[in-house]
Amino acid sequence: KKIDIIGANTAFGQPRLGVDLGPDAVRYAGLVSTLKGLNNEVEDKGNISPDLKVDIETHSQEKVENLRNFNQVKEFSYALAKQVDASLENGRFPLVIGGDHSLSIGSIAGVAKHYDNLGVIWYDAHGDLNDGATSPSGNIHGMPLAVSLGLGHDELVNLYGDGAKIKHENVVLIGMRDLDDGEKEYIKENNIKLYTATDIRKLGIDTVIQEAIAYLEDKTDAIHISLDVDALDPIHTPGTGTPVTGGLSLVDTQVTMETLNRNGKVVSMDLVEVNPLLDEKNRTAEVAVDIAAFMFGKKQI
Ligand code: ARG
Ligand code: MN
Ligand code: MN
Ligand code: MN
Repeated sequence: KKIDIIGANTAFGQPRLGVDLGPDAVRYAGLVSTLKGLNNEVEDKGNISPDLKVDIETHSQEKVENLRNFNQVKEFSYALAKQVDASLENGRFPLVIGGDHSLSIGSIAGVAKHYDNLGVIWYDAHGDLNDGATSPSGNIHGMPLAVSLGLGHDELVNLYGDGAKIKHENVVLIGMRDLDDGEKEYIKENNIKLYTATDIRKLGIDTVIQEAIAYLEDKTDAIHISLDVDALDPIHTPGTGTPVTGGLSLVDTQVTMETLNRNGKVVSMDLVEVNPLLDEKNRTAEVAVDIAAFMFGKKQI
């Protein structure tokens, strides 16, 4: 594949600093050389906007209608959407390295410019389906999927294109195990396809991913995968801001990536929530590189 690596160095979607260093931690773990070694053509586009770098002294945490750092998230998301859009325009695969998960507001908006029926696989411990009213934290990294579906602050919903970017029936949630009450209601009301961590243990990851692909296959024209490293158990990915026990294994995740790669419908990917300041050595970034490797051709033999 022809891959553009886009460093989405934002920490505005949540209060913990360090996740803005995630893209560089993943680079130090060997992302570019690993993907090149798998016969991909790789271009590292650098970080989105060094100018938007979180100012440690003034990381204000200011809230607009319970949305923390609203203006900064909006500005960052727009810049990212533009870059993702341009990457697809050039016939390339945007691989967006985060950064906190609020960045998906931008990446999905950019991808949705190219597809009327974009499928989204949300691989995460969390649904990220809150709005300002249901959010227990005011952290926008708990809201990007809602925003993409048309729920949330107007200026985020209409960012880089009017209204919802994706449809409820084109979304599959995988790995869920920490959903807020409002998110549970939203999932039920809108009939969103859902596989919890316990579903995965019962059914097996292969069945789950095959079902997910079959569910999206005919009604979508492309698939975007948004992978939050907290989908995995903190045994594998301790360096992340909102870890949840009882998570998916690395092998589950490798199988998921390998299967999606073979299917060929995935056109873009987010790999988010790596926080090297919370990590043990650089383990979580190393796992992130391995996950990406399986998406781009790595096999065990
Ligand atoms: N549901 C919680 C919240 O809305 C946690 C969200 C965590 N999201 C994430 N991308 N890690 O605050
Ligand atoms: Mn999460
Ligand atoms: Mn709907
Ligand atoms: Mn998330």
